Amino acid sequence: MSPPLRLILPLLLLPSPASTLEFRYHSNQEVALYLQQVNAANPDVTHLYSIGRSVLGQQLWVLALGRHPRSHATGIPEFKYVANMHGNEVLGRVLLLQLIEELLRGYRDNQTWALRLMDSTRIHILPSMNPDGFDAADTDCQYSQGRYNHNGVDLNRNFPDAFAKQQGGEGRREAEVQAVMDWLQTESFVLSANLHGGALVASYPYDNGNGGSEQVGGASLSPDHDVFVHLAKVYSYNHSSMHHGHSCYDTRPFPDGITNGYQWYPLAGGMQDYNYVWSQCLEVTLELSCCKFPPADQLPALWEENRKSLLAFIQQVHLGVKGRVLDSSGVPAANALVEVRGRSNLCPFRTDRHGEYYRLLLPGRYSLTVSLANHQPLTETLDVPYGPDSYTALRHDFLLRRAAAPPTLAKPLRPRPSPSCNHTLFLGGSGVQPEGAGLCVALGLVVALRSLID
Ligand SMILES: *[C@@H]1O[C@H](CO)[C@@H](O)[C@H](O)[C@H]1NC(C)=O
Ligand SMILES: *[C@@H]1O[C@H](CO)[C@@H](O)[C@H](O)[C@H]1NC(C)=O
Ligand SMILES: *[C@@H]1O[C@H](CO)[C@@H](O)[C@H](O)[C@H]1NC(C)=O
Ligand SMILES: [Zn+2]
Repeated sequence: MSPPLRLILPLLLLPSPASTLEFRYHSNQEVALYLQQVNAANPDVTHLYSIGRSVLGQQLWVLALGRHPRSHATGIPEFKYVANMHGNEVLGRVLLLQLIEELLRGYRDNQTWALRLMDSTRIHILPSMNPDGFDAADTDCQYSQGRYNHNGVDLNRNFPDAFAKQQGGEGRREAEVQAVMDWLQTESFVLSANLHGGALVASYPYDNGNGGSEQVGGASLSPDHDVFVHLAKVYSYNHSSMHHGHSCYDTRPFPDGITNGYQWYPLAGGMQDYNYVWSQCLEVTLELSCCKFPPADQLPALWEENRKSLLAFIQQVHLGVKGRVLDSSGVPAANALVEVRGRSNLCPFRTDRHGEYYRLLLPGRYSLTVSLANHQPLTETLDVPYGPDSYTALRHDFLLRRAAAPPTLAKPLRPRPSPSCNHTLFLGGSGVQPEGAGLCVALGLVVALRSLID
């Protein structure tokens, strides 16, 4: 942007109560300014923070919205949307700014849906994960100029991978990827979506596999497959056309407008598998337009197509059951295992530093087992209703009793050797070596052919 334009920007974006955000592609500076102004005008329900900087030093701004925007509150799930990870897939950043407007407008107008959503949920919005790529992008619908970060790295291939034999880039993390990994450590996110373009489909984990029991037919299925299919359908069916399953440039149609990531095309180092496997955050990848850089005059219609689904998806953070694990002295315990029978997650879900757990589950009867060092494991059966309509998951605390046996005998229920749930092992490249190398070579070809679609 030229200096004179930068000077007049503040005038263009002067806040006024009745102002509406223009439907156009705002520069990174304009987005930052917009977020600052929204934050200044709504200090009671917004909080602006940065999770780090891009390779070229641009801030990765996040706006948090909710009744408790500055910090976690007990029982309030953390939700996030991330857009523009591929710099030339730009619709998501426009939609997320419009979503901020919509949430604040609904809240200020006392609309029930907005009050209930903002009271029950903390919503984090990262409009651009790759601002450097955005600056380098051209407006082509299909090509990939601007896809990568400034170092030429595809950020959606740069995360640690639970299945890959070798970690991408010798385990070197790009600044933008490291910022997201650090972000995931600061909050226990429960549900997330990652907004892309170049196709029209909701894609869910796994994106990768290594020939183990997760591979079913041509798909790579997670223990929470039922929940992921539901989440993807909530998006595709609330979207005006995604559920029709039309393909864009892809030859294969997507039934219901959803797909298993691996079944579409396998990829290693993706963000959604990382969120799910290591951070117990269920993430889906939303492909929101056939054209990666839609003409600006189509933006109002594209927002209308996605408005309902973006809101309905957030509400799904209230699926399942949530609560705390209390130790024998009644103190919330961090790092307790909370396992659902029949769901052997690669890294078992644990309580966070507040002693809380959140477990997205479809309605039904479930058996949960909680274990903590020096305490007796506790198994309870819960009837889980459909939470989203009432904006809360089932609340259930587990009260543990001290183990009668000596502490050394208290062990985790089912230790799982692979993969290591310790990030640093993977960063060093010395982690568990999964089998299926031959398959990986074959898949590598497919990945190479398909790597530029989304
Ligand atoms: C919303 O409700 C609050 C509190 O009851 C009230 O002060 C405010 O004027 C209402 N706003 C609108 C737009 O009705
Ligand atoms: C939209 O999502 C809601 C969940 O929020 C779901 O109950 C509803 O069935 C969806 N609408 C359609 C048309 O599928
Ligand atoms: C992870 O593994 C590294 C290397 O073996 C070790 O130094 C570190 O303490 C481990 N971290 C945790 C949380 O276990
Ligand atoms: Zn993409």
